[in-house]
Amino acid sequence: MSYKIAVLPGDGIGPEVVREGTQLLSQVASLYGFGVEFEEGLVGGASIDAYGKPLTDPVLKLAKGGDAVLLGAMGGPKWDGLDYSIRPERALLALRQELGLFANLRPVKVFSPLASASTLRREVVEGTDLLVVRELIGGIYFGQPKGVTKLPDGTERGVNTEVYTTPEIERIARVAFEAARRRRKKVASVDKANVLEATELWRKVVTRFHKENGYGDIALEHMLVDNCAMQLVRNPKQFDVIVTTNLFGDILSDEAAMLTGSIGMLPSASLGGKVGMYEPVHGTAPDIVGKNMANPLATILTVALMLRHSLDQSKAADRIERAVEAALDEGYRTADIQEKGCRLVGCKEMGRLVREKIDKGM
Ligand code: IPM
Ligand code: MG
Repeated sequence: MSYKIAVLPGDGIGPEVVREGTQLLSQVASLYGFGVEFEEGLVGGASIDAYGKPLTDPVLKLAKGGDAVLLGAMGGPKWDGLDYSIRPERALLALRQELGLFANLRPVKVFSPLASASTLRREVVEGTDLLVVRELIGGIYFGQPKGVTKLPDGTERGVNTEVYTTPEIERIARVAFEAARRRRKKVASVDKANVLEATELWRKVVTRFHKENGYGDIALEHMLVDNCAMQLVRNPKQFDVIVTTNLFGDILSDEAAMLTGSIGMLPSASLGGKVGMYEPVHGTAPDIVGKNMANPLATILTVALMLRHSLDQSKAADRIERAVEAALDEGYRTADIQEKGCRLVGCKEMGRLVREKIDKGM
């Protein structure tokens, strides 16, 4: 068995962390007796510099043609002045949409050795293990009408539209309920049903779908997004699966990331189409590019998600997660999660440490 992986490192620290990801994949492939073949493409700012646009047809074809996509990060100050339509981030949105990746899974697990790296108290975050299921190709990110227009009086008007249809809500609800069934059987559906009609529909459809599709074993609650934002820092352990819209999921997952100590710890999987796309949740971190300071663990944990969801290699995925825990247990930390008395390492060293733990059979 051999898998074809499209590798799209992108910009900023993307290439640095993705390098650790591909090395790790090669290692577990030989350990578990399967093949991996990598094919690289430029996306985001790197593609703008080379071809004048953030995503080219050959790269889209590459992404569609493999077994999975491993993505780094896109964007940076260099391209910030560009029009929205050709910004690096557009490539990410286009990839998600073209690949039909409507379900974005962002597991937020606090590794015990890191519980004191969070800005929140250890007793609040320790033991947190939740999953954000974010709708990824609908809502206000894509809704029409959108855009900025000039008004007759010389001022401008900016518009975006929050829009969800029944089938869009049902398919993401199903992903959340199925995920909860493999976990602690609890789903919090997050909306702003007290103000926004589109999410009033969200709440109605989630409720009905839960009732009519045999999910009686799953406890469903509804939570307003402002309350959820508060509950995440008040008592994150109350959550198992959170299912929400594209925009709320974007915001709440960054907030939830801080429970783990750093956004540099958060992996993600985007599913729903033929090919899954896997990316760390963090951005391009322009301030530390090329300094070997990035935290590769989000990408390393992202590789574990790829092994589990796209390559049918869940044993290898478990082993990676254990190796990460072991490296953290021994006190190794990248700059973003450093603590007094820790063993500070760079991106490459952290990647190597995890591979060493895996070699030792952890
Ligand atoms: C994320 C990012 C993206 C998003 C940006 C870069 C377009 O913040 O994946 O969370 O908003 O979806
Ligand atoms: Mg985000």
